Amino acid sequence: MNMKRFLVITLFPEIIEPELNSSMMWKAQKDGLVEFQTLDLRDFGLGPRRQVDDKPFGGGAGMLLMIEPLTNAINEAKRRLPGAKVLIMTPSDIVWNEQLATEYANSDDNYIIVCGRYEGFDARVFDLVDVKISIGPYVLTGGEIPAMAIIDSIVRLIPGVLGGGEEAYERESYSNEAHLEYPQYTRPEVYDGQAVPSVLLSGNHAEVEKWRQAHEQ
Ligand code: ADE
Repeated sequence: MNMKRFLVITLFPEIIEPELNSSMMWKAQKDGLVEFQTLDLRDFGLGPRRQVDDKPFGGGAGMLLMIEPLTNAINEAKRRLPGAKVLIMTPSDIVWNEQLATEYANSDDNYIIVCGRYEGFDARVFDLVDVKISIGPYVLTGGEIPAMAIIDSIVRLIPGVLGGGEEAYERESYSNEAHLEYPQYTRPEVYDGQAVPSVLLSGNHAEVEKWRQAHEQ
C-alpha cells in the first residue's frame, strides 16, 4: 500500500502537531506508513497584519475566514499533494463514522484537511473542496479537534499501524456497528476485593470466546 499523506491547513499548527507526533500517530510516521504536514493559514494572511478573517456582509455575530487566504493556502496544499482529496471540517450533514474511516483508510487517496476558526468560512471556499465533514451534532470553536479525530480514526485502520495482527481490527469496538466491546482485564487477578471472571483465567479459548460474545456491549 502507498504511504498515505495528510496535510492540515490550520491557524493553530501547535494544536495539531503534538498529537500527530505522539503515540501511534508518531509510530505510523516513523514506520513510513503515513506522512503528516501542516500549513499555517496565517502565512497566507493579507497585509502586514496577515489578516485572515473579516466581518460577514449583511451583519451577524463573529468573524469569517476570508476566501483569499483560504484559496491561497488550498492551492499551496494542492501543489504539495497533487490529486489529494480536500476535506473541510464544518458542521455538516455528513457525520464522520467508522465506515467512512474504513473507506478512507482503504483508498489510495491523500488528504488535505481545512480547519476553520471563528464563526465560519466565506461560503465560496466550499467550491474548492471535495467533502464537508462534521464529527458530530455539536459545535466546536475550531476544526483542529475534528481533523485530529478523523486522522486518528483513519490511520489506526491502516495495516501495520496497530500491530497485533488483523484480529485487532476485526474485534475492536465499532468495527461492525452491531458489535461493541466486551470487558477486558489485566493484572492483578483480584483488586480491592474485585476478582477477574475466572473463565478468563482458565486458558480455555472456546470458553473465553463464548464469554466475550455473551458480554459484548
Ligand atoms: N467545526 C465546528 N464544529 C464542528 C464539528 N462538530 N465537526 C466538524 N467541524 C466542526
